[in-house]
Amino acid sequence: ESLKTKNTFGIDVRARRFVLLTEEEMLPAFFAAGGLSQRPLLVLGGGSNILFTKDFEGLVVQVAIKGLEREDLPGGDVLVTAGAGVVWNDFVQYAVSEGLAGAENLSLIPGTVGASPVQNIGAYGVELKDIFEDCTAFDLETGTFRLFDNAACRFGYRDSIFKQELKNRVLITKVRFRLKKAAAVNISYGAIAAELSKRGINNPGIKDVSQVVSEIRVSKLPDPSTIGNAGSFFKNPVIEKYEFAEVVAKHPEVVHYPTADGRIKLAAGWLIEQCGWKGKVVGHTGTWKNQALVLVNHGGATGKEILDFSAAVISSVKEVFGIELEREVNIL
Ligand code: EPU
Repeated sequence: ESLKTKNTFGIDVRARRFVLLTEEEMLPAFFAAGGLSQRPLLVLGGGSNILFTKDFEGLVVQVAIKGLEREDLPGGDVLVTAGAGVVWNDFVQYAVSEGLAGAENLSLIPGTVGASPVQNIGAYGVELKDIFEDCTAFDLETGTFRLFDNAACRFGYRDSIFKQELKNRVLITKVRFRLKKAAAVNISYGAIAAELSKRGINNPGIKDVSQVVSEIRVSKLPDPSTIGNAGSFFKNPVIEKYEFAEVVAKHPEVVHYPTADGRIKLAAGWLIEQCGWKGKVVGHTGTWKNQALVLVNHGGATGKEILDFSAAVISSVKEVFGIELEREVNIL
């Protein structure tokens, strides 16, 4: 089975076996019949955070479980249950249209609901963990369903238990989100506040925030349906204060933010741009012209080519700033 249309980089590789999972209820019987015993096994959502560098010599299970349901709780919170295969932005737009606050800053992030907890997706001042209630997952080793609440997921910056010890061990089937009927929007991210006030919107609602976030994303990020990419290719590095002191001594203008735990987060896009990589085209790949943190497939790139390019970016940032960028995208 070709995976070319199943990864947003558009890399042309094949999977030895491929299964499309449309119902959560199929899992126990499928497991009992040995249908999930093949290894390696890859659980795939929208394929928007993955770089294939070779054929996948195992089983790919793509999760296409649908469904959106709301449950109103006493007190004003609303729990929305979404199937893992629901397109992330469809869930966000559902919440926005129902007047439910919490997800609007995460508008237009590519991928599926089921993938969202894996790397604790985040943008514009909000992370998945801020609205995550719990998720149901099928344990691929034991063949049983498990419930993970927020704490059990051990969310961190672009990180969770599903990226660590449970990597490829569980298949998330549905996620519950806790949203608010009272429209308290989060416009802490500078670019959003600036854009809203530019438009003369002084009392923004959920729809306004969703709209502005969507437009900022479209202006900065390449659309994967025309230019292959997986969003930010690297994480923003988080460093200790003493390390930051060295960086800022040499580069006083370095873009940085304090983190809640007293460390410093640097903007990887800025570091990469300073090294001269922004908008660079090398072979069939390169960085995006409006956002250097995003690597793109200009057409016909192999995964290996993009991986090699990312290594060149990492080594030049290391040379200039002494900081080792970490890839955010899964390399397979
Ligand atoms: N910057 C540059 N040059 C660049 C890119 C960025 O100088 O080429 C500077 C910007 O001027 C700004 C700072 O870096 O001062 C931050 O840029 P931006 O607001 O674009 O956000 P980011 O830190 O580059 C992160 C997330 C994005 C998310 C945005 C908005 C990561 C790895 N990336 O990017 O998430 O949309 O913030 O919140 O944390 C993703 O994970 O795939 C993703 C797109």
